[in-house]
Amino acid sequence: MKGADVDSATVMDAARKAARNAYAPYSGFRVGAAILTAKGALHAGCNVENASYGLGICAERSAAVAMALADPEDREIQLVAVASPNAAPCFPCGACRQFLREFGCKEVVVEDPAEPSGVRHYPFEEMLPHSFGPEHL
Ligand code: THU
Repeated sequence: MKGADVDSATVMDAARKAARNAYAPYSGFRVGAAILTAKGALHAGCNVENASYGLGICAERSAAVAMALADPEDREIQLVAVASPNAAPCFPCGACRQFLREFGCKEVVVEDPAEPSGVRHYPFEEMLPHSFGPEHL
């Protein structure tokens, strides 16, 4: 794994742990995400809902915001893991795919009970093909 000693199982563990802190009083759907950066940093996020429903933020975007805050020199996403006690697999929504794309996300890992390993890896290109990004502006 490029630029990191952290393996994807550790990233998935961080995502599962983050899901415990989800603030999801309206949907009851708890999600955790964890980002591994190119330099090997780990940033977690959870979904945070709001009484004004449309303002809620997904776990993946809250993890990306944590990453952006932590270190402006380490904003390249190597991998994102997503976990939910409510659904496996739990894939990033379309808005989150675009948000992750901004930071060059390479790979998405989701829980998958059908796999012997319990997880499944997807190249980011499969999640958001022919995508639009900062280099197009
Ligand atoms: N949600 C996430 O946080 N990430 C996903 O990948 C899918 C959906 C959240 C948004 C909302 O708080 C709840 O799950 C139900 O849609």
